[in-house]
Amino acid sequence: MKIVEGVPELWAALSSLDRPLGFVPTMGYLHQGHLSLVRQARKENPSVAVSIFANPAQFAPDEDLESYPRNIKRDLEFLKAEGTDLVWIPTVPVMYPEGYQTWVEVTGLSTVLEGSFRPTHFRGVTTVVAKLFNAVGPDRAYFGQKDAQQAVVIKQMVRDLNYPIEIVVCPIVREEDGLAMSSRNTYLNQDQRLAARCLSQGLFSARDAFLAGERRAEVLKGIVSDQVQGEPLADLQYVSCADPETLAELEGEVRSCLISMAVLVGKTRLIDNLLLGVSSSAELETQSIS
Ligand code: PAJ
Repeated sequence: MKIVEGVPELWAALSSLDRPLGFVPTMGYLHQGHLSLVRQARKENPSVAVSIFANPAQFAPDEDLESYPRNIKRDLEFLKAEGTDLVWIPTVPVMYPEGYQTWVEVTGLSTVLEGSFRPTHFRGVTTVVAKLFNAVGPDRAYFGQKDAQQAVVIKQMVRDLNYPIEIVVCPIVREEDGLAMSSRNTYLNQDQRLAARCLSQGLFSARDAFLAGERRAEVLKGIVSDQVQGEPLADLQYVSCADPETLAELEGEVRSCLISMAVLVGKTRLIDNLLLGVSSSAELETQSIS
């Protein structure tokens, strides 16, 4: 497994990799959610590259860039065990040298849901992912359904900017009790960790209602918000029932939808989501967990 930092070094290492190349961008502190993407990439491509970069541009000044968990040594052990060929760990000056002034922005999709609470977030994500794509030049790139809106925004960017890259979205990996795996779960104390179950519990109750025939967007959202509001340590920021592709908020009877939510547990902001009525691998996997 080759480990590189600078772009010229990266290019030299890439030239000896067989194609197609699968690429998994991450911010590190890897868990089974990240590793499921690496495994999928490993299955579908003769070569796999992973990047680790906690991207300052996608954190607002009041967010958790400084405290974002890091453990490069452990990350590299995990990646080696998964058969990763190349790991790119750029520094901030490599990605944003002095005088940096170019931004990539998906205008519409970046302003709703997560974007309405984190107005500069997706501009940071699309800028860094565009830079990672340009430098690595992969054939396929792997993203998690955990960040459902991020995947939709990236797909839009790839269409709009003609990237010759296939975007593969992989199912959410959950802890045994349903909590979606996230590097940020490490911020939770014992009581908060238990309280955090209310996100997936709300989503699974909505899924049960959907499978039993409930189709009204407001009722499905109500099931999720009731569950969160019943948990004293949790503070619901939003619950949405939206079109899975356009992210337009839905009303009345729905045939398929993305139910997504953000919840504060203490100072930790958690997100989770569920696809309903969509026969994608992302939904099938979610449905087998309960
Ligand atoms: P990060 O939060 O490290 O996540 C890297 C990838 O892992 C993302 O595609 C994310 O959706 C996926 N992932 C995280 N938790 C998951 C889970 N429980 N199950 C399945 N997949 C999961 O997302 C980012 O980094 C950044 O925004 C990035 C795309 C790297 C740009 O900086």
